[in-house]
Amino acid sequence: MIPPDPSGRRPDRNLALELVRVTEYAALAAARLVGMGDKEAADQAAVDAMRMMLETVRMDGVVVIGEGEKDEAPMLYNGEHIGDGSPPEVDIAVDPLEGTRLTAQGRPGALAVIALAPRGTMFDPGPIVYMEKLAGSSEVADLLDLDRPLGETVSLVAERKGIDVRDVMVVVLDRDRHQDGIREIREAGARVRLITDGDVSAALTAVSRDTPVDLLWGIGGTPEGVLAAAGIKAIGGQLVGRLWPRDDTERQAALDGGYDLDRQLGVDELVAGDDVFFSATGVTEGDVLQGVRYEGRGEHATTESIVMRSRSGTVRRIHARHDRPKLREITGGQLYG
Ligand code: FBP
Repeated sequence: MIPPDPSGRRPDRNLALELVRVTEYAALAAARLVGMGDKEAADQAAVDAMRMMLETVRMDGVVVIGEGEKDEAPMLYNGEHIGDGSPPEVDIAVDPLEGTRLTAQGRPGALAVIALAPRGTMFDPGPIVYMEKLAGSSEVADLLDLDRPLGETVSLVAERKGIDVRDVMVVVLDRDRHQDGIREIREAGARVRLITDGDVSAALTAVSRDTPVDLLWGIGGTPEGVLAAAGIKAIGGQLVGRLWPRDDTERQAALDGGYDLDRQLGVDELVAGDDVFFSATGVTEGDVLQGVRYEGRGEHATTESIVMRSRSGTVRRIHARHDRPKLREITGGQLYG
């Protein structure tokens, strides 16, 4: 037994290395339903597989960001306790399948993702489904301000990066609510990459250097904002988010719950803990991760994952080859691999 380390300086257990099995299994399960046109079935397969593997992780976890409320989600619901109750005490954010429609339609960019942070340090979005987000690399982190007109922001980003504004690329979810913002970006001379879904992956691309994307902007899921923030704490960069109630009822519910709707939350407010673990595995091919691929005569499946820890700043890419018949046997046929 290793004695405790009160200084906190000695390397310790990296939970992210256990979480990778959780996202791998979710991705393997969802991958069987790529292109089958049934997003609910793909999501359910990912949830079931993620749940099965989470039981192997020793921890005392509470789901802060899950599949919804207990009544609507039989598993991985908000408030659910996961793990065997042994330390560490952690908050859990999951999206077993980020990009359900992408998966159902066989489009790029779907992934399985999970993040863990010390108990009480993850932002709980409560009733607010959407958040306006702006994300970019550490080089432009201080320029990210949702109150500044987007046209000015893209010009400042170009100046800071020493590039022409026409070279700036902003990734935006293709939604009607973004028409004005898209116009502002284009009028400033910058380019827009429209995506149909998947702003966690888009945020990770925007904060990483040497990618074809400089910024992510737009209104997307609040849970996805917290998950992206967890990853950004290890990669570096910034995401600022502001809650975006859809109507007066949601606005009132947020105010009653004590939420500040004017406040811009950075990654350190979205995930305040300084020991954050993150793992994501590609389901379909994407900018950030390869999707699940099948090899040989179908006996093997390969996965690519990105596995990170904020305390050390280590970012690992893990390529795995899975033996499908053995997985099927081990999981009693539950995981199709
Ligand atoms: P799902 O995987 O849950 O379908 O979410 C995909 C997604 O595109 C997210 O990446 C994004 O944050 C959110 O949906 C946007 O919500 P909406 O589709 O309602 O505009």
